[in-house]
Amino acid sequence: MKVLVIGNGGRESAIVRTLSKSSKVSQVFASPGNVGMLKEAKLLEFKSFQDTYNEIVNNRIDLVIVGPEQYLSEGIVDYLSERKVPVIGPTKQAAMLESSKVYAKEQMQRYNIPTAEFASFTSLKDAQNYIKKAKYPLVIKADGLAAGKGVVIADNYEQASNALVQMMDELAFGNAGARVVIEEYLVGWEGSVFAFTDGDDYKLTIFSQDHKRILDGDLGANTGGMGAYAPLDLAAPYIQEIEKSVFQPLFNGLKKEGVKYQGILYAGMIFTEKGPYVLEYNCRLGDPETQAVLPLLKTDFIDICEAIDSEQIRHLNLEWSDQYAVNIVAASQGYPDKYDKGKLITVDPKLYDIEGVELFYANVAKKDNSDNLYTDGGRVLSLTALAESLDDSIVKAYSAMDLIHFENMYYRKDIARNRS
Ligand code: AMP
Ligand code: GLY
Repeated sequence: MKVLVIGNGGRESAIVRTLSKSSKVSQVFASPGNVGMLKEAKLLEFKSFQDTYNEIVNNRIDLVIVGPEQYLSEGIVDYLSERKVPVIGPTKQAAMLESSKVYAKEQMQRYNIPTAEFASFTSLKDAQNYIKKAKYPLVIKADGLAAGKGVVIADNYEQASNALVQMMDELAFGNAGARVVIEEYLVGWEGSVFAFTDGDDYKLTIFSQDHKRILDGDLGANTGGMGAYAPLDLAAPYIQEIEKSVFQPLFNGLKKEGVKYQGILYAGMIFTEKGPYVLEYNCRLGDPETQAVLPLLKTDFIDICEAIDSEQIRHLNLEWSDQYAVNIVAASQGYPDKYDKGKLITVDPKLYDIEGVELFYANVAKKDNSDNLYTDGGRVLSLTALAESLDDSIVKAYSAMDLIHFENMYYRKDIARNRS
């Protein structure tokens, strides 16, 4: 099979790597991809859905996997499906579970899915009135897509009001913040899980835990994710409860509404004293959770995609390695705010000799025809280490990270260390 992965980040690098190991895949394409994937994938420019479709036809691509939420929320799946291209991902309408937090919260409320109490606003004045009487801390979220950065936890009225002004008046996240959700602050530890679903049945993956804040100890600004590990053993005992309270009611409800959700659904949860509550649904694999979860998958990823596409999920058997995976993201110092680009990345070749270490590039560029890669964004690369215990994976991942250098390289030193 010839498979096209749409997207260009660390998650897509991990999907490309996984596909390149499948005996069923003869060629992997990535669009736009990144130059760190060149050994495994042929890169196709991404200009428009129409151009992508033409490339699919010209290259005789058999299957398309869409990584990022942006394209899904713009309807790439609708566009390609109408043209009979097998594509993994939900339609624009189904992807609203991620592209509108108000819609997602209303669905959770409708189907009694445990989630924080909330209110939504399109008027800054109404929102400011509401926060005068609210309990603190509270959480303010831009309704639309904001690359993981549109969430503010406010400790007092002043912080909340500033966040509202930035989102709703100054449009710091563009139109994504013109409408906001204000919700109750929940206390607990976080974990996430993916469902592979064909619209009728679904199968859940192992759990993982992302580290969203920029600084050690879960401090500082929210980012697109600074590292992850899997499996998250703490969450395993909740699997049945989560099926019953988080996935079944949603999928049953969507079906009744006539919305077919086919693809991957991510549930980001917080495990409180009262059990797991949904923080967010995403309409795709998580980044960087994918970089920790896919290396543990023993089932061929192509079999999963085919089961989604041919509506055979009920026959799918997911098998997992019994190892642990730790993924650490290396970013440019200054991310998620301002940072420099164009720094040479050096990797000591010893890294490639360590068994069970995978290096995934994200924001990288070339300056010439050599193999040299340079930093080209906030989250530059990540690496995953696999070992028999979580502690061994942590040690292995950090010693492998010592073999990678670029000027102003920054990464958290406590990934998977602050468990709970
Ligand atoms: P989200 O994009 O909705 O997952 O939010 C990003 C991060 O903000 C989450 O991973 C949590 O750490 C935090 N967060 C979001 N909503 C809440 C909440 N209601 N209570 C506590 N923390 C939250
Ligand atoms: N890791 C969180 C996300 O992918 O949204």
